[in-house]
Amino acid sequence: MEQDQVLILDFGSQYTQLIARRVRELNIYCEIHPYNHPPKELENFKAVILSGSPNSVRGENVLHPELSEIRGKKPLLAVCYGAQYLAHFSGGKVAPSSTREYGRANLSFVKNDEIFFQNISVGSQVWMSHSDTIKELPTNGLLLASTKDVENAAYKIEGEDTFAIQFHPEVYHTKDGKQLLANFLVDIAKVGQTWTPDSFVESTVAAIKEKVGNDKVVLGLSGGVDSTVAAVLLHKAIGKNLYCIFVNNGLLRKNEFESVLKQYEGMGLNVKGVDASKRFLDKLAGISDPEGKRKAIGVTFIDVFDDEAHHIQDVKWLAQGTIYPDVIESVSVNGGPSATIKSHHNVGGLPDYMKLKIVEPLRMIFKDEVRRVGASMGIDPELLGRHPFPGPGLGIRILGDITAEKVRILQEVDAIFINGLKEDGLYDKVWQAGAMLLPVNSVGVMGDERTYEKVVALRAVESTDGMTADWVDLPYEFLQKTSNKIINQVKGVNRVVYDISSKPPATIEWE
Ligand code: XMP
Repeated sequence: MEQDQVLILDFGSQYTQLIARRVRELNIYCEIHPYNHPPKELENFKAVILSGSPNSVRGENVLHPELSEIRGKKPLLAVCYGAQYLAHFSGGKVAPSSTREYGRANLSFVKNDEIFFQNISVGSQVWMSHSDTIKELPTNGLLLASTKDVENAAYKIEGEDTFAIQFHPEVYHTKDGKQLLANFLVDIAKVGQTWTPDSFVESTVAAIKEKVGNDKVVLGLSGGVDSTVAAVLLHKAIGKNLYCIFVNNGLLRKNEFESVLKQYEGMGLNVKGVDASKRFLDKLAGISDPEGKRKAIGVTFIDVFDDEAHHIQDVKWLAQGTIYPDVIESVSVNGGPSATIKSHHNVGGLPDYMKLKIVEPLRMIFKDEVRRVGASMGIDPELLGRHPFPGPGLGIRILGDITAEKVRILQEVDAIFINGLKEDGLYDKVWQAGAMLLPVNSVGVMGDERTYEKVVALRAVESTDGMTADWVDLPYEFLQKTSNKIINQVKGVNRVVYDISSKPPATIEWE
């Protein structure tokens, strides 16, 4: 790739991915690599950032990066652990903090005549999260900023383009964090801001053409954002050689198979819709255990996909919508002195005998960037704004065993809820919403009759990545209207409840 790049060396901080996202927001391309597995070729990287870490530079679990080709040779920004590391091993001193240093703090001193702190003033809020503190700066250290409790909050090494900060510029609570990163990357390191959705599309299409040539590629579409954007990118690159398969597992939302298929065809994609509902429901019969259901759905998907892929002659490649968070190798915090590397590669579960090579055009970009790339290629905003929907679909929202009748009931309930959110302008304010069919019946009265029917739970959450989530305070009026509609219109349901649990400790799905 012929554009400026930034290298982020990861020491296992929970915030490392956030550093990458902030850098990308500056339209600068960056990559995260484990501190002990840096890329072999450093030439392309115009600047380096060291992340934070749960480890301490004191004691046994010190993580030692190899910086001989970096320090003094390339602009270097060390954050939190990185800042402590540079201090501790270069003539300074790090000791346990005597006061709590978590959360908000404000800069009480700033050396504004340094480019690093231009446009950032005393009083600016920063976010601290550390239990060690830098007591003495390293050799040639020059103090750049302090807070009330942390004197050495930022420093530089004179004679080098090396900067260090104790606080976290990558979190939103550090108000001028992005400015600080821009000061370092753009003004000091002179990294070009050339990473845009359009440039990504252009370079990725060229790379796919080169990699795949005239080979045929098969891709499983799910109706979700990632697989759709991946398909459109591939289609731009190889046109009719892309064969898409969209499987109806019988656990999709109401009418989703037909409507999404139509939408794909309207986009010019070569898509085969395969209605395998019966095959999935047969396989699921009598299974109540959530992991058992996931497994049955996964295995059946592979069987169906495999059957279909065999109909495409000479297919050589399998394309997937894997995105960067699935790919990043993070440094394990439990790894002890020689931290082990945990891999999250999501290379799918296709049987080996298919022997397909893998192409993953989105493997270096984050979810929000996938949406921006999709928008730049003219994909319908409604499709790009769809809530996440789990692979096993309604299968993990029907608690207990799955039957065609239960799927029908839940599809009706879900459609009323989701359409209601759209009609009332609430859909885009919610990160994910859906309905759960509970494995209990409750007593009710309808007319003069006593009923004994199903209970459904509605769930709507706000989140950024699904890792943590909170329930959404939907208007009472909306809940009342939706509950009435469901009970009046969906045969088999006589009670609606709303889930007001956060994650953690609850999860988003009920299974
Ligand atoms: P939980 O329930 O773990 O869900 O809080 C977090 C996010 O992951 C989705 N999810 C799944 N997605 N296969 C998927 O593809 C699954 O088995 C699965 N389980 C949960 C969930 O919808 C939410 O967005």
